Amino acid sequence: MKDVIQFLFRGRIEEVIQPLPNLTVLNWLRERKGATGTKEGCAEGDCGACTVLVGSLHSGKLEYRPVNACIRFLPTLDGTHLITIEDLMSDELLHPIQEAMVEHHGSQCGFCTPGIIISLFGLYLEKSRSNTGLTRKEIDDALAGNLCRCTGYGSIVSAAYDAFSSKRSGWVEKNIQETTSLVESIRPKKGVALDVHHQLYFAPTTLEHALGLVKAYPDATLLSGGTDIALQVTKRFDRLDKIIYLGQIEHLKSISKSNEGWTLGSGVTFSQMMGISDQIHPHLLATLERVGSVQIRNAGTIGGNIANASPVGDLSPLLMCLNAVLTLRTNEASRKLPIEEFFIEYGKTALRSGELIESIFIPRLPANSRFSSYKVSKRHDQDISTLLGAFRVDIDQGIIIKVIIAFGGMAEIPKRADNCEQALHQQPWSQAILASAAEQLSNDYSPIDDFRGSAKYRSRVAVNLLHRFWLEQANPEIPHRINYYPDNIVNDHA
Ligand SMILES: Cc1cc2nc3c(=O)[nH]c(=O)nc-3n(C[C@H](O)[C@H](O)[C@H](O)COP(=O)(O)OP(=O)(O)OC[C@H]3O[C@@H](n4cnc5c(N)ncnc54)[C@H](O)[C@@H]3O)c2cc1C
Ligand code: FES
Ligand code: FES
Repeated sequence: MKDVIQFLFRGRIEEVIQPLPNLTVLNWLRERKGATGTKEGCAEGDCGACTVLVGSLHSGKLEYRPVNACIRFLPTLDGTHLITIEDLMSDELLHPIQEAMVEHHGSQCGFCTPGIIISLFGLYLEKSRSNTGLTRKEIDDALAGNLCRCTGYGSIVSAAYDAFSSKRSGWVEKNIQETTSLVESIRPKKGVALDVHHQLYFAPTTLEHALGLVKAYPDATLLSGGTDIALQVTKRFDRLDKIIYLGQIEHLKSISKSNEGWTLGSGVTFSQMMGISDQIHPHLLATLERVGSVQIRNAGTIGGNIANASPVGDLSPLLMCLNAVLTLRTNEASRKLPIEEFFIEYGKTALRSGELIESIFIPRLPANSRFSSYKVSKRHDQDISTLLGAFRVDIDQGIIIKVIIAFGGMAEIPKRADNCEQALHQQPWSQAILASAAEQLSNDYSPIDDFRGSAKYRSRVAVNLLHRFWLEQANPEIPHRINYYPDNIVNDHA
């Protein structure tokens, strides 16, 4: 184990000896490096003012992803390339995105501007790799995690279209091979072990090593993407005295496919899962792309989403409908657990001391399955669910032979609707049967009133979502999702 981290920064390898485990990348940049271009707005991953690009190697390729520097701990940068707003100019020239933002008056007070430019730069790099045309939806998705209170976004969207039509590349694109070799040279082979001011931090590179550490330090905080955990430091001002970071373990980030289904390592991010979600079911993507923002989905992992056991976590109801099975591992043993048995009560899961989530298995849906899920929140993007309903019925000769209905936001844990399911099982697949079974939802759930919605609202919407499921399944030819992006509109700001 080593007590130093290395990452590429400003064209050279930056070595930080014994970095403070709770120090965020944002605070390191602003307070230690005087790099104040990256701003702090909210310190909780919401506003995007702190957006930076982190490049890391995936199957030998360097991929850059926008993330929130305010909720990323510095030691987790080991073996990566960090790019901030100060890096974008080359040969005294602004990057095409910066030029276009000036040209289109995309900045007023300027506070959000560095984050916005970095988010667009992330998309710019992605598009330069894929060589496909730019769509309005891609711009909106890229900007969903960047709040601007001044411009109204019109000028920023115009700037994006303009910049992406430029043929000029910046230094990042030109130097990609050389940079890939440099990042390869600092790839962490040994794990990191830090003991700074009595704060312990471990970043093992193998699962076996991680399990040994979890056994030795059962009270340590397991850290994956940090999009939940880091807020304990930045908002509650807690000190995390023992951290075991799982993000350097390749095995946990892997996805494999067999005839039976898909096995996703617990460290697979939402962005990674979106890349294969179509194979699992075409309706999955619509819900996955409503999780947080691009920055949050690039960092947040599926294991972290399940383990935090939030009643409004978006993934668990979907995984319940898909009959997902968790593999839980200790140093000595491994056990399988259907996901619905993982949640016991608010804040309590079936995870035992010394155990972590290794992977999630998602079986293939049979051909006679119908599945859909709906997230309801106050804002379309970057918002936590008021409730989320996931529905699945397997139908044989007009009879429902299997039914799973699961909701988030309706109980203290993500939970199946047992009574409603019973009312549907072995019944004909019909609107009348569904309407009558929907009445059972009031026996399944006693939701609470909170700032996201009243109990009455939640109960009513749950019934409506089941009705919506029927309408969509019965009328697949009718478009049922609002399409803001007609196919023929490529550039409505030209
Ligand atoms: C701005 C913002 C927006 C968000 N929007 C959404 C949203 O729309 N929908 C949604 O569902 N969530 C949302 N979240 C919450 C969060 O992003 C997700 O829950 C995310 O999936 C957590 O994963 P992580 O890797 O970041 O977890 P971490 O923060 O690293 O960890 C979360 C918890 O899981 C534990 N843990 C992590 N990995 C493992 C493992 N392998 N085994 C056992 N325990 C483990 C940790 O100890 C911790 O208790 C949002 C968060 C923010 C900050
Ligand atoms: S400061 Fe707001 S997202 Fe980081
Ligand atoms: S320009 Fe002021 S917040 Fe965006």
